[in-house]
Amino acid sequence: MKIRNEKTADIPAIEQVITDAMRLLAQATGTEVAIVARLREANALSLSLVAEEGGDVIGYLAVSSAQVGKQDGWGLIGPVAVAPAHRLNGVGSALMCEALHRLRETSRGAALVGDPIYYARFGFRAYPGLVVPGCPPEVVQAIPFDGAEPCGELIHHPAFGLDQ
Ligand SMILES: CC(C)(COP(=O)(O)OP(=O)(O)OC[C@H]1O[C@@H](n2cnc3c(N)ncnc32)[C@H](O)[C@@H]1OP(=O)(O)O)[C@@H](O)C(=O)NCCC(=O)NCCS
Repeated sequence: MKIRNEKTADIPAIEQVITDAMRLLAQATGTEVAIVARLREANALSLSLVAEEGGDVIGYLAVSSAQVGKQDGWGLIGPVAVAPAHRLNGVGSALMCEALHRLRETSRGAALVGDPIYYARFGFRAYPGLVVPGCPPEVVQAIPFDGAEPCGELIHHPAFGLDQ
């Protein structure tokens, strides 16, 4: 398995992986494929990583630019998706480690909205005052690379369709 940047020819396979993975996630909105397409169209995918095995795309991770309050320079991770047949084989971890490695070179920190139990293993945690309106505070998480506590609203790219 290798992690690499997406190529245009990967797009249908990426969309299939996201669709199949999100089908099993209760809190999925069903809009994840459209969000990635809108980010791509807006040239707002700062990272678009695929996990490839035997020529097949088996996992995907998107990063887009975000702000915390008025502070820019944050990398927003998501969606992350692994094809159901390839789960629990370290694919999601490999995608996340590569994304964090690359973001450390370019960003103030990484942030995401997701399951705290899963993302804690990568160093993500919630911070008092780091919020997305309408989301439980424990699911809004970050890793500030400079150690400074993030405080403010985690503002996603408009492609996410949130009212921010
Ligand atoms: C979440 C997801 C990306 C994880 O990918 P994966 O390749 O299965 O994960 P890994 O094999 O790297 O798992 C690493 C560890 O996390 C655990 N883990 C995996 N999915 C988990 C979940 N949803 N919740 C809690 N722990 C989880 C694994 O048990 C494993 O633990 P271990 O190291 O103690 O054995 C994948 O299951 C998926 O696509 N899920 C549906 C979509 C989704 O939830 N996306 C994230 C929100 S956008």
